[in-house]
Amino acid sequence: MEIITDITALRERLQEETSIAFVPTMGNLHAGHLSLVQLAQQRASCVVVSIFVNRLQFAPHEDYERYPRTPQDDCCVLEELGVEVVFLPSEETLYPVPQQFQLKLPPVADILEGACRPGFFHGVTTVVLKLFNIVQPQFAVFGEKDYQQLQIIREMVNQLNLPIEIVAGQIIRTESGLALSSRNKYLTIEQQEKATELAESLQEIRASIIAGERDFAQLERSASEKLHTLRWKVDYIAVRQQHTLLPAAANCHSSLVILGAAWLDQTRLIDNCLFTLP
Ligand code: PAJ
Repeated sequence: MEIITDITALRERLQEETSIAFVPTMGNLHAGHLSLVQLAQQRASCVVVSIFVNRLQFAPHEDYERYPRTPQDDCCVLEELGVEVVFLPSEETLYPVPQQFQLKLPPVADILEGACRPGFFHGVTTVVLKLFNIVQPQFAVFGEKDYQQLQIIREMVNQLNLPIEIVAGQIIRTESGLALSSRNKYLTIEQQEKATELAESLQEIRASIIAGERDFAQLERSASEKLHTLRWKVDYIAVRQQHTLLPAAANCHSSLVILGAAWLDQTRLIDNCLFTLP
């Protein structure tokens, strides 16, 4: 496995490769990331994983400084998995000059995560587009854990005609149902147990919808209220159409996603649940 920090060296290394699958990450790798690497390995002979904590997608008050950074451990795991190349750029390498060019994003970037974290999807799309241009993969793998991010990247690839196939990986969870996340590192053992309440509340909404309940707004409200009484601070609980992420209308849409974002003390967690009605 080669660990490459420089763009020119990376381009030279990848020049001869005919099929490249790319997994962009911010590091502190867990089984969720590794499942994406395995999907990449099924697609292409050369797998490139990038590790870069992208300042541009953090607001000034957010956790950029304390975000867990474990590049050595990450590289060991990737080597064991048989990854060909790790791209580990510095901030100066990816942003040698202030990043003034930006994409104008579609309205889907202004709702849910975009509404709670203004500028977040500008940061994400900027770095992902730069990384796509640097790596020039045929495949790029993203997790359904960040479902809105996945949909926005898919839309960026479609609308800008990028010659990249986006592959989606399912959410990997702990046995108790907590979606794996680098931010779980911020949680104490007790908080990690409590954190499953978010996934449980999404599952409860799903069960109610499958049982025939169609007042989605009421389901969202009662789930938020319940989480509130369990001492969560809820950013949103939303039943949406899978494709557009717009509100789902009862009996009109069958491919649904329930998305949730909420704070457990100082830690913000997100989760979602995709399902299709018969
Ligand atoms: P990061 O949070 O490191 O996640 C990297 C990839 O791993 C994303 O596609 C994310 O959806 C996926 N992932 C995270 N947790 C997962 C889980 N439990 N199961 C399955 N997949 C999971 O997302 C980012 O980094 C950044 O925004 C990035 C795309 C790298 C741009 O900076």
